[in-house]
Amino acid sequence: VRLPADQGAARPSASAPIGVFDSGVGGLTVARELMRQLPRESVLYVGDTARVPYGPKSPDTVRRYSREIAAYLLGEGVKAVVVACNTATAHALDVLRSELPVPVVGVVEPGARAAVGSQDPRLSSARRVGVIGTVGTIRSGAYDRAIRALDPTAVIVAQPCPLFVPLVEEGWLDHEATELVAREYLAPLREQRVDTIVLGCTHYPLLRPLIARVVGQDVRLIDSAHETAAATGRALAEAGLTASGERLAQRRYVVTDAAEQFARVAAHFLGAPLEHVETLALAG
Ligand code: DGL
Repeated sequence: VRLPADQGAARPSASAPIGVFDSGVGGLTVARELMRQLPRESVLYVGDTARVPYGPKSPDTVRRYSREIAAYLLGEGVKAVVVACNTATAHALDVLRSELPVPVVGVVEPGARAAVGSQDPRLSSARRVGVIGTVGTIRSGAYDRAIRALDPTAVIVAQPCPLFVPLVEEGWLDHEATELVAREYLAPLREQRVDTIVLGCTHYPLLRPLIARVVGQDVRLIDSAHETAAATGRALAEAGLTASGERLAQRRYVVTDAAEQFARVAAHFLGAPLEHVETLALAG
C-alpha cells in the first residue's frame, strides 16, 4: 500500500465513489445513512476486520491503520473519505485531513453538533452532555473538545464502555447481561443528570432501545450517523463533487479478513443482506 503522499494529484470525478471506512462492521450504520440521504452516490466501504477492535489500541497504531486504508481508498479513486469509526476519527482525522487531496469527514464533530446544536426547548441553557465511546475515543478527549468549541458552558460527563462492542457483535442487543453492564456504565451519567448522551461509537446505536430504558426516555440519545451523512453531502457540494445521478450508484464492500462473518453481522447493521464482500490484504 502506497502512502497518501505518493498518490497522484489527479482530481477525482463527481461519479467516483465515496470511501467509507471503519475498524469493522459497525461503520455500516454510517454507510447506511449515507446511502439513504445520498442515494445517487456510490460507496466503497472498507471494514478492517483483521485488526478490529481499534478501541483499546494506541493512537499511533490507529493512525497507521487509518493511513493505510486511506491510501487504499485513494488508489481506488474515491472522491472523499468518510471516517465512520469514532476511534479512528478521534486519533487520525487531523492527519488524514492534512495528507489527503480529497475532502475528509469524521463522525465526532457532526455528533457534537447534533448534541449541542439543537433548539430543543426542554433543555436548559447549561447543557449536561454524557459522552460514551471506546477507551481510545474517551481518552483522546476529542468529543470534549468538539462539544466545548460549540458550547463552552456545557457540562460533559465522559464514560468509556468497552464491553458494549463485543456484546453488540454477539448480537446481545436486548440481553439481560447487556442491561446489567449498561446500568453499571451509565450510573455516573444518571447521577450527573445528563440531558443528552452522545452514542460515540459505531456500535452503540444498536443498543439505543436498551440505553433509553436504562437512562429514561427524557434523555436525548445522539447518533452521529445522520449528521455525518449530512456533513458529507455538504462537503461534496462545496467541492463541486456531487454525483449527477446519470450512472447507477455502486456499492462495494471490502474487508481485511473473515468476509463471510462480516456479511452475516452486516445484515444487522444494514437491515438487508450483502450480496458480495471482497477481501483485501493490508500490511499488518
Ligand atoms: N468502530 C469503533 C468506534 O466507533 C468501535 C469498534 C472498535 O473498537 O474498533 O469507536
